Amino acid sequence: MAKKADKPYTGQIHQVVKWPEPVLAQRGDEVTVFDDALKQLVEEMFESMYIAQGIGLAAPQIAMSKRITVIDVSFKKNPSDKLALINPEIIHAEGRQVEEEGCLSLPEIREKVVRAAKVRVKAQDVTGKWFEVEGEELLSRALQHEIDHLDGVLFIDRISRLKRELVLRKIRKMQKNGEW
Ligand code: NI
Repeated sequence: MAKKADKPYTGQIHQVVKWPEPVLAQRGDEVTVFDDALKQLVEEMFESMYIAQGIGLAAPQIAMSKRITVIDVSFKKNPSDKLALINPEIIHAEGRQVEEEGCLSLPEIREKVVRAAKVRVKAQDVTGKWFEVEGEELLSRALQHEIDHLDGVLFIDRISRLKRELVLRKIRKMQKNGEW
């Protein structure tokens, strides 16, 4: 749903939680109720994602352990790229791509992550209706990254042990300096 640009957003903006917040490591609960509160939450998630300069946001990142994610790989440029996925599941994956990834819950951390080149995902929309979406390149990566969040998996769980240790060292240093 597109909102008028001149109309200020009045919903709640959610703070994005950072690693090592425990909610990020939990499996989100299935969504079973498709009501106005869910529609409102999805709109709030899009707005919170845009304010945080992200192209994807999963509910556990706003401390809500639910299987909900929003993605917009064009960052507002192309309205048809706005995707809200409820209870998403990867039903097909093929190929391989290796690109740098970042995450709003791991600010300033970027690492190369191996992902499937192409995925097909089935999910429910805000009304509960099932649909399928296919993604390649960046969309494929975003779908895999966000669905991982719903399973309590972060991209630093998908890099080598050595690289992960270096990342954790960098985070500890930032924490010590009050930059995290
Ligand atoms: Ni992320």
